[in-house]
This record gives sequence, structure tokens and C-alpha cells, in this order.
Amino acid sequence: MKKFRRIGVLTSGGDAPGMNAAIRAVTRTAISYGVEVMGIYRGYSGLIDGDISPLAIRDVSNILNHGGTILYSDRCPEFKTEEGMKKAVDTCRKFNIDGIIAIGGDGTFRGATDLTAHGVPCIGLPGTIDNDITSTDSTIGYDTAMNTVVELVDKLRDTCESHARCSVVEVMGRGAGDIALNTGIATGATAIAIPEFKFDEDELFKKIKHSKGLGKRNFIVIVSEGLGSDYAPGLTERIEKTTGVECRFARFGHVVRGGNPNLFDRVMASRMGEFAVKCLFKGESNLVICRRHGDIVSTDISYALILDRMYKGKLQDGDLDAFTPEQIDSMKAHVEEKKALMTSLYETADRLSL
Ligand code: ADP
Ligand code: F6P
Repeated sequence: MKKFRRIGVLTSGGDAPGMNAAIRAVTRTAISYGVEVMGIYRGYSGLIDGDISPLAIRDVSNILNHGGTILYSDRCPEFKTEEGMKKAVDTCRKFNIDGIIAIGGDGTFRGATDLTAHGVPCIGLPGTIDNDITSTDSTIGYDTAMNTVVELVDKLRDTCESHARCSVVEVMGRGAGDIALNTGIATGATAIAIPEFKFDEDELFKKIKHSKGLGKRNFIVIVSEGLGSDYAPGLTERIEKTTGVECRFARFGHVVRGGNPNLFDRVMASRMGEFAVKCLFKGESNLVICRRHGDIVSTDISYALILDRMYKGKLQDGDLDAFTPEQIDSMKAHVEEKKALMTSLYETADRLSL
């Protein structure tokens, strides 16, 4: 089995609360096995430029509780080119980096797969607030981000109640409605609009008029950014015009990506970081570490990426060719499980918002 002397850790794509907890876990686990750790700054950009420094045990002290990422993050188009990849591989050789733990989203995992194919074994940790990695029940940062949304919506509700208004709130999540759906339930939203389900505006207008007639003064509508940046502002105008309830629009944006990670994300990031290093040292690579039904497990990155496509209904010709019938069945079951969960949550939200 390959003997590791030194590994690298990087954070890439959109940052997420809990990335620091993962960096700490990776660093301390590797060092506990007698392996050195190099911090690679600015994601794949730092790998191309050689922006790399050692991480010792004390270098990762007091970061577990902080949002953002001490290694900084970047989106690096150059890494997708042969030239960029060659530079990254050369940097690994120059710094004697035998393997990399890459913390980020699906783009980061694609990069990790390419790097593994070029001889640098990589393992991915799902770090993104969006929860759009289907293979894991939760991504690092998702739970914290949702709690931030809830805190902010609770504040909006106070002022909506005072002024008898409706707030339409747009939340991040890229193409995934997970943040909007769960925070909509947690804040008692009157309606939740997400890309996964067709949204009936007329039903919403009726509901608002009806509840207003019964004395309800405050209304919250949560919209996922996946519906497009014009959708929520437009809906705000339509609600006011159709129902006569004064309506305000709020886009939470990046504020939801910052802040200290909560207990759930700290514990999950710590477990995932430790697990990833153990997998790497066992000789495994091209994996994404996932949380499934409470357990920390690993999934092949190629499997995870195709599973995402299947869930999003974006499979292309030939995508499933590399997988066995058993793997395809397991993907289908996973997709059904996630869809059933989303449907059940959507129905709960609808039933309780009167
Ligand atoms: P995320 O990891 O959050 O999905 P991005 O999609 O921006 O964020 O990806 C992060 C980085 O991963 C990109 O800037 C790029 O360096 C690398 N990357 C993304 N897609 C690919 C790809 N298809 N091949 C190789 N590297 C990629
Ligand atoms: O992937 C995390 C995320 O915050 C998405 O929710 C959002 O669509 C996107 O990143 C914003 O990207 P940027 O930080 O480049 O503005």
C-alpha cells in the first residue's frame, strides 16, 4: 500500500460554515498518523500557483468555531484546462504532496476526479450550504445556513406583524430548494416556491385573502433562488396587487453563507474530515464522504456525480454505461428516497400553513 508522507487540504467553490472544522479534523487526523499536512490556499488556484504552507496542530487551533475558511476559497477556471492541471500536478510533485482532501461542491469533486486520474489521489468532502450533493443527506454548512435563515425570517415576521405586511424572502441554494423548503416549514411560511415543485400563485393569493379575512396580519413567502432572480421580486408585486396586502421583498444572499457553524455542522465536519483521511491512508481515492442515515460513509465520486444528474433529471446518453445494474438500481432507490422526502416536506408545509 502507498505510504503517505505528506497530504494537502484545500477548500474550493462557495465557502460554507464548517469548512474550518473539516480542515482542523483533516489536519489533526493526518498528524496523528505521523503524516504532514500542507494547507493549499485559494482552492485549485493555490495548487496551480504553489500558494501552500504547512499546517501544524496549533495552526488549526481556534478555527473549529469560525465560519468562512482559513484556507480561503476560489473558483479557478484554469484548473479545468490541461495546462492548469499540469501545473497543479507539478506543484504536488514539488511540495511532495501525496494526496489531497478537497472540501467543496460538485465542481470541486470534478476537479478532484481529474487530479486523481493524473496520479494525485483525492478525496472530497461536501462543503456547500446548498445541500445539492444527493449522495449525502446533509452537506457541511447547510444546517447552519438554514438556522441563519430562520433567525432572519423570525425578525422579518416581527415587523410584518406590526405593519400587517407580507415579506417575500429569496434564499440561496442554487438549483436546489432544500434550504427554502426546510426553512419555510421552520418559519411557518404561508407558501414556499422551489424549483422542484410547480408553484400555484393563484392558490397563494386565495390563501392570503382568506387568512387576512380571518385576522391574520403577517405573511411570509420563501422563494428559492433557483427560480431565477426576477421571480421573487415579481411575485412580491403580484401579491400586493392581487391581495391588497402590502408586500416587501428581501434577498438574503451571501449573509446566509457566513457565521459560525452550529453544533450539527461542527460534529459532521469533524467526523467527515477524520473519515476522509482514514480512507486516503487505506489507499482509497476518488471518493466523496457522505452522511447517510446518521452514519459517515464514502461513495465513489463518479457515482455521486451521476446520482446528482439522475436526481435532477439531467442524465445524458451513456451516463449509466459504466455502472452495474445493481448500482443503477441503488441510484434509482436513492433518488426515490430523496424525492419522497421532499414531497413529504412540501405536503407538511402546505398542510400547516393556514
Ligand atoms: P463547487 O465546488 O461549490 O460546485 P464550482 O462549481 O465553482 O464550485 O467548482 C469549484 C472549482 O472546481 C472550479 O473553480 C474549478 O477549479 C473546479 N472545477 C469545476 N468543474 C470542474 C471540471 N468539470 N473539471 C475540473 N475542475 C473543475
Ligand atoms: O453554492 C453556494 C452558493 O452560495 C449558491 O447558493 C449561490 O447560488 C452561489 O454560491 C453564489 O455564488 P457566488 O459566491 O459566486 O456569488
